[in-house]
Amino acid sequence: MSGIRPTGFLHLGNYFGAVRNYVRMQEEYECFFMVADLHSLTTHPDTKDLKVNVHRVLSENIASGLDPDKVALYCQSHIHETSELYLYLNMLAYQGELEKTVTFKEKVRQHPNNVNAGLLTYPVLQAADIILHRASLVPVGKDQEQHLEMARNYVQRFNHRYGKVFPEPQAFNYGSELIKVPSLDGTGKMSKSENQMATLYLSDDDDLIRKKVMKAKTDSGPTENNSKKPDYIENIFLLMRLVSDEGTIKKFESEYNNCTIRYGDMKKQLAEDMVRFIAPIRQKAMDIRNNESYLKEVMEKGAEKARRSAKATMELVRQAMGLNYY
Ligand code: TRP
Repeated sequence: MSGIRPTGFLHLGNYFGAVRNYVRMQEEYECFFMVADLHSLTTHPDTKDLKVNVHRVLSENIASGLDPDKVALYCQSHIHETSELYLYLNMLAYQGELEKTVTFKEKVRQHPNNVNAGLLTYPVLQAADIILHRASLVPVGKDQEQHLEMARNYVQRFNHRYGKVFPEPQAFNYGSELIKVPSLDGTGKMSKSENQMATLYLSDDDDLIRKKVMKAKTDSGPTENNSKKPDYIENIFLLMRLVSDEGTIKKFESEYNNCTIRYGDMKKQLAEDMVRFIAPIRQKAMDIRNNESYLKEVMEKGAEKARRSAKATMELVRQAMGLNYY
């Protein structure tokens, strides 16, 4: 089970870091992937862009390979059982630990005039999302580790107090390290909010992709054979390994090692390979976005699967809590 925030555009970092994991998991597990529209209300109470954003994030994930026939792909707000479980879990969540959460403190700093109770209990809602399906594996990045630890705490408290209903959810990734996709300006990784010219989005058109790649930071090239690559050059090779074929990578590696490399040519090649990689995903996402009836069908089908699982869990929860009076 995992949740996807309906903010911003998907970029190459999301694709290789998250979505590709989901696509692989759908072949091996029963999966629930949810658009976290309710979570976005904790910081963005204005809902006028929500529909467009939800449609976009669904389209981009499907275009990247998520299959609505294989997984439950649904919107958080369509599953009302979540709110009931959230309420019960709130009684097992303590003010002190919620106030210590790193993401909460960060958001208080960013939105000092909107420190609402929903923001404080954001991790409780997230725990409800997960354990509503009694999920064990949660594919998420490092920034979500603390939320998962809190989810495990609520599970332990619930199971201890009312009887064992929930497994303890764990962060899950294939391999030990998440793939980090470097930004094009050599200063960290691709990100939704920072320098947009250094991040490749799945929605970028061909010319914009070329323009961004050609602006990537390089220098005049190595002067000694087999020298170590500076970080920003290593990053260009890293990006090339994601989208280019073996022969191309070998060619530029050996040109680097014998000091004949021309970074202009390398970036031209990388730009074309990026275009070849991104263009079909962009096109497919656009086609899906323009097909509102298909999106409606996807959401209905997803909600139906999620509801079935949620209803079964909530029966167990009410039973365990002794909320069945007849
Ligand atoms: N908090 C997550 C994020 O910021 C999104 C999310 C909401 C989530 N519910 C979840 C992730 C359930 C995993 C499981 O990215």
